[in-house]
Amino acid sequence: MSMTGAAYQKCINPDCGAEFDCGQAMFKCPQCGELLDIRYNWDKIEVPGKLSDFAKRWANKDRPLDFSGVWRFRELLSFCEDKYKVTIGEGQTILQQNDAVAEYAEVNPGRLYLQYEGLNPSGSFKDNGMAAAFSHAKMVGAASSACASTGNTSASVALYAHSCGVKCTVFIGSGRIAFGKLSQSMDYGAQTIQILGDFDDCMRQVQDVCTKLGLYLLNSLNPFRLEGQKAIMYRIIEGLGWTTPDWIVVPGGNLGNSSAFGKAFYELKQLGLIERIPRMAIINATGADTLTDLVNNKKLTWNDGKVDQTIIDEYYADLTARNFSPHTCASAIEISRPVNLKKCLRSIEICDGVVRAVTDEEIVDAKAIIGKYGLGCEPASAVTIAGLKHLRAENIIGGDERIACVLTGHPLKDPNVTVNYHKEKQGQFNNPPIEAPNDLDAIIKLIKN
Ligand code: F0G
Repeated sequence: MSMTGAAYQKCINPDCGAEFDCGQAMFKCPQCGELLDIRYNWDKIEVPGKLSDFAKRWANKDRPLDFSGVWRFRELLSFCEDKYKVTIGEGQTILQQNDAVAEYAEVNPGRLYLQYEGLNPSGSFKDNGMAAAFSHAKMVGAASSACASTGNTSASVALYAHSCGVKCTVFIGSGRIAFGKLSQSMDYGAQTIQILGDFDDCMRQVQDVCTKLGLYLLNSLNPFRLEGQKAIMYRIIEGLGWTTPDWIVVPGGNLGNSSAFGKAFYELKQLGLIERIPRMAIINATGADTLTDLVNNKKLTWNDGKVDQTIIDEYYADLTARNFSPHTCASAIEISRPVNLKKCLRSIEICDGVVRAVTDEEIVDAKAIIGKYGLGCEPASAVTIAGLKHLRAENIIGGDERIACVLTGHPLKDPNVTVNYHKEKQGQFNNPPIEAPNDLDAIIKLIKN
């Protein structure tokens, strides 16, 4: 039995449903242009009988594939042989129970968990996806790769590309990227192209560039990347003693995570490895709230895969007519045409999901709380706690439910937002530096202890 034979690619459009083997890199269905999924013939894969069996891999953590927080779950993303697998130690993350942050969101003690993805090698959750996508890139013999990015994808691509000897070019919008992230792509040696435009412009350009130059695309259109991101959910389950939470709360940008998480739970249920699928809350910033508008106001749904394309087309036509460009301090999710929209709608269906948008003021306050009482995070990650606060106020999430919020990126990714918040006393939780004369008595007077 060949490992590759167990997996195939399938178009998500039920009217098309075209299937392809995994030896090709396409990123959109060549027949109808829709997104592709990775599907598995589970009977060809030796999936452990229960999730806790994966814990045995910890005994072999001197082996890179058993150490990886993605590949130690490899039977659940079995699309390539071990010899192609790429890892640099991603997924050593922490699921932190946090009562102080819970109190802020009006959740009962002991019920809120923060899945901190900032510990990944490049400082964000993207590394989960890149371990999988670069493995596929090696499997198909790709020599050169590209991505569009609001900053974290480019940092992660740059790091993984040089680690496995693939060239990379990253496209970023001008003036739209946090400094920590920009510094990473330059330092890790990526060819960085700054386009006069926003992320959505970069996303459109990179697809054409990849087609014309035959580059391997690493955005979340790439279905192999999303397979790696499923591991974030496996680790949350692991952190909860191999049980599922009641809710997952995740930021919504290009909607890769929400798409991957729903798929992860669907498969685990199908395999009989979990009993119940958690509910999911996807949180936008109000300045980039396409998903919220389409789902809550325009009533767009998955509808068994027959998504009403005219609603989307009209929505995007209106954005274009208004020359709309999204704006939020959470630059990572400053996206108005999310490429995984349809897969995300499917996840909303699978997970009985809800969608909300939170303001920049709410984001920076929530971020300050996560910094003060937790491990810190970048602005886009803090939408989870701001969104949770909304959903608690509406009583959609109960105070005694067990909730896991995904903190997607490290606090040092975007120091400017943090420094401005505190120095300019932007919100309720500011903690600015106190200016002191260079004089011992005066300094001592200023110290409160
Ligand atoms: N949080 C962070 C820190 C991100 O960098 C991103 C996306 C998201 C959340 C949104 O995740 O796209 O799966 O809904 N960043 C991409 C990038 C767009 O280019 O780095 P999503």
